Order: sequence, then C-alpha cells, then structure tokens
Amino acid sequence: MVKICCIGAGYVGGPTMAVIALKCPEIEVVVVDIAAPRINAWNSKHLPIYEPGLDDVVNECRGRNLFFSTDVEKHVAEADIVFVSVNTPTKTQGLGAGKAADLTYWESAARMIADVSKSDKIVVEKSTVPVKTAEAIERILTHNRKGINFDILSNPEFLAEGTAIADLFNPDRVLIGGRETPGGQKAIKTLKDVYAHWVPDERILCTNLWSAELSKLAANAFLAQRISSVNAMSALCEATGADVSQVSHAIGTDSRIGPKFLNASVGFGGSCFQKDILNLVYICECNGLPEVANYWKQVIKVNDYQKNRFVNRVVSSMFNTVSGKKIAILGFAFKKDTGDTRETPAIDVCKGLLGDKANLSIYDSQVTEEQILKDLTMKKFDWDHPAHLQPSSPATSNKQVSVVSDAYEAIKDAHGICILTEWDEFKKLDYQKVYENMQKPAFVFDGRNVVDANKLREIGFIVYSIGKPLDSWLKDMPAVA
Ligand code: NAD
Ligand code: UDX
Repeated sequence: MVKICCIGAGYVGGPTMAVIALKCPEIEVVVVDIAAPRINAWNSKHLPIYEPGLDDVVNECRGRNLFFSTDVEKHVAEADIVFVSVNTPTKTQGLGAGKAADLTYWESAARMIADVSKSDKIVVEKSTVPVKTAEAIERILTHNRKGINFDILSNPEFLAEGTAIADLFNPDRVLIGGRETPGGQKAIKTLKDVYAHWVPDERILCTNLWSAELSKLAANAFLAQRISSVNAMSALCEATGADVSQVSHAIGTDSRIGPKFLNASVGFGGSCFQKDILNLVYICECNGLPEVANYWKQVIKVNDYQKNRFVNRVVSSMFNTVSGKKIAILGFAFKKDTGDTRETPAIDVCKGLLGDKANLSIYDSQVTEEQILKDLTMKKFDWDHPAHLQPSSPATSNKQVSVVSDAYEAIKDAHGICILTEWDEFKKLDYQKVYENMQKPAFVFDGRNVVDANKLREIGFIVYSIGKPLDSWLKDMPAVA
C-alpha cells in the first residue's frame, strides 16, 4: 500500500487529500498539522473550513484510508510520498518584506522531513512557492541525510475556495513538474499514477520543475489581471454611462478572450492573488526585471484603487460624510461559499468607512465575530501599498463595529447598505421590508452587482452598482477618484 502524508491541514491540504483518499481507496492518506485545534476539528463533526461537498467526502473516507493527526514526524517517516501544503504568506519583516514569500514554514517542514526520514521519499511541493524553491529544498534534504534519496516534485494546486471539491473532482489540469533525470521522471510517473485514478491522461501535464513553479504564479497573475482589467473598465463605465456587464458580455463572447472571470467587483480578495503577484513582483525585481515587476504590480494597484473608489463613492453619495451613520455591511468573506476572510476587500472597505467615523453593523453567515474583529484590528505590513498604510483601526474598542447574526438586524435603522460578498441570500432579501426599516434617503452600494438595481429604485432606494450607469443622485455628487 502506497502511503501518502500531507503536511498542512488547511484549505488546500484538507480537501486535496480527502479527494485523493476518496478516489484511491488503496492508498493510505494521513494529513498532519502542528495546529492541534485544526486537527481536532478535522476529526470532529465540524470541519475547520466551510466548503460545499467537503463533509460528504470526509465522512466517506475518514477512518478508512484518510486520517488526520498531529503526530507529524511519525507519519512523515512512514510515508512514500510527502506533500507539503503549509502556508507561504507574504513576508512582513526583513529582506523582501511586503513582497517576498515567507518560507519559514516550508523550511521547517523540509528540515523535519530530512531529520525523520529513514527511507526514500518523493517530496511534493503543493504550497505555492517562488520559482527555484525546489532547488533550496533539495539542498536542505540532501545536505542533512546522506544515503536517502529524495525526489522533489512541484504539483501546484489550482482549486478555488467555495468550489474546491468540484475543482478537485474535475480539474482543468493537474500540473506535475520534476527533474529531467531518470529518477525525476520516475517520481513524476508515481504521482501521475495517483491522479490517473480519476483525471484523464491528457489533463495531467508534466513539465520541468521551474515551469511548474512559475506556472502557478503566472496563472494567478493572469486571473487577477482579468479582474483588475474589468474593474478598471468599470470606472470608465461609470464615467461614461456604459454598463460593465454589457461590456464584459460583449468582449467575453470573443472566443480568444472567453466569458469567465469578467465580473466587475469591489475588488478581488483571497489568500492567493495578492500574495502570489507580490511574490512574482519580487522575483522579477531580484532577476533585474523592473519593467516586468511594475507591470504586474499595477494589477494590485488597480485592485486597491477599486476598493478606495468604492469607499469614496459611499462617502460622497451620503453628503460627503458617514460620521455617526449606521452602515450595514452584508458579507465579509472574500467570496461566497467560503468563510475565509484572508485579504477580503471587506477589510479595506470597512477600514475606510471607519476612517470616516461610520458605525458598522456587519453580517456574514459564515464568518465569526471573533474573526471579523481580528481582521479589522490587525496591522498590515508596510510597503508602497496605500490600502495597507492606513493605521489599524481602534474602532472595535469604541463600539464603532458590531457584528450581528441576521441581515435584517444589520440593516435596521441603517443609512446605507454595502454588499461586499455575493452570497445568494442577499439577492433574496425582502427589499421592501428592508427599505421600511432604514433611514431615508436609503442607499444600497452593491459591490458585487447582485441586486436588481431597477427594482430597488422603484422601491425608493438610491442604488450604486459597480460599473453601471449612475442614478442622477450619484451623478450630482462630487466626482470620486
Ligand atoms: P492554510 O493556512 O489554510 O494551511 C496551512 C497549514 O499548514 C496550517 O494549518 C498550519 O498550521 C500548517 N503548518 C504550517 N507549518 C507547519 C509545519 N511545519 N508542520 C505541520 N503543519 C504546518 O493555508 P492554505 O490556504 O491551505 O494554503 C497552503 C498553500 O497552498 C499556500 O502556499 C497557498 O498559497 C497554496 N494555495 C492555496 C489555495 C487556496 O485557495 N487557499 C489555492 C491554491 C494554492
Ligand atoms: C484563486 C484561483 O482562482 C485558484 O485557481 C487558485 O488556486 C487560488 O486562488 P480563490 O482565491 O479561492 O482562487 O477564488 P477566486 O474564485 O479566484 O476569486 C478570487 C477573488 O476574485 C474573489 O474575491 C472573487 O470575488 C474575485 N472575483 C473573481 C471577481 O471579483 N470577479 C471575477 O470575475 C472573479
């Protein structure tokens, strides 16, 4: 029986390994983590992450050939294939702070693998890492353990949160990079055989190590670039009377462009896009390519611009001040169908509104009060990134923020509503009732273009939708930058 151990039981390690265990009943899969509460949750009825379809997969395999454990060293020692799926956040201090990937967790995992291994292993980079990380990892592994053979593979993960199980069941492709040596090719074949249980051969792409590592960063940069491109267009649409949904449809029907990932929004969030583009920017700078670095950096700058533009629109529409006004924040997660708030645009929008002394009432069915308050008080790293230069907000201590468990409660007596996550629930609210319970004039700022703006206008709302023709009210207010 092939034994797989995955270090890191997070958003990637947990679902990915659960699906491998489901599809490969003859393989034993153990997911290990140093965080005991996380492992306990994986072993309980309440999994640590919210992901549609995940419970069913885990329930079917857990205890059969899928296990979660804190006994990291034991399971690594026993495994034939070790996936490393630890977090690789942006460095907050020291060389490359604010851009480079922090590989502390990766390095400590690699050192541990080297220390405890007594047999040959395939070590798989599942985490997103800078190009050439495999070389550094190889050095750590081979330096510490003579006589044991380690083959390093890069197998970046392309799942998106909220659709992780569907993405894993039916991936566009699985990418495996390895050394172009007989040993490297044999290792590729071993991992390919695992995925071949359910992924068609033509969708398993095999490359050299550096192409696989770089492709992951490139894919996220291209995806984020599409959003910044359409968001940049949304500003021009508002200025000219064009409708960004019509523009997206018109350009997306060109088969060379394609229809996906063209939804204008308050900005992209999530743990990957910003982090991976910053990482790419840093790698370009380190390789003496400042023009390339600046090109990709602009994707993040436009994203910051979009979040700031949204805040400015809210404030300028409401007579240029939101001081002391109650604003309902509907949705805090970075997208629907996840409880993840990492880099959610809601953080910067809320901080911006708090900076103008608004009182926020925040509702998200999948995000805890503790998480929201933590996000709004957390300090960010300093770099030339305007959204992150705002001081951390003292709001949570002086009751400027309340977190509630019902959308109608958030809305009650509010002057305005900001929709920041596209949860289906917000499409279905009884907006007549909402209107009656709000201060007048009642504003809706739809950061995800989920409501029927015309219907809301008929009720009496003043509605702002990203990239759509503006109400006369909004047109008359000072221009926003
Ligand atoms: P996460 O923070 O949810 O999980 C990482 C886990 O690794 C944590 O539970 C942490 O306790 C554990 N860990 C850290 N160091 C460890 C060690 N030395 N030993 C054992 N456990 C350790 O992160 P994530 O979202 O799952 O992301 C993991 C990697 O996958 C990152 O590199 C990320 O960029 C990449 N990725 C993420 C996504 C996504 O949608 N979240 C998608 C594709 C790729
Ligand atoms: C992303 C990549 O899609 C995935 O392949 C990679 O493995 C991890 O990073 P994720 O961050 O989970 O996945 O979600 P994604 O669906 O890409 O959305 C990212 C952000 O972009 C969200 O805030 C989403 O709301 C926003 N978005 C997405 C838009 O604003 N408009 C769009 O058209 C699509």
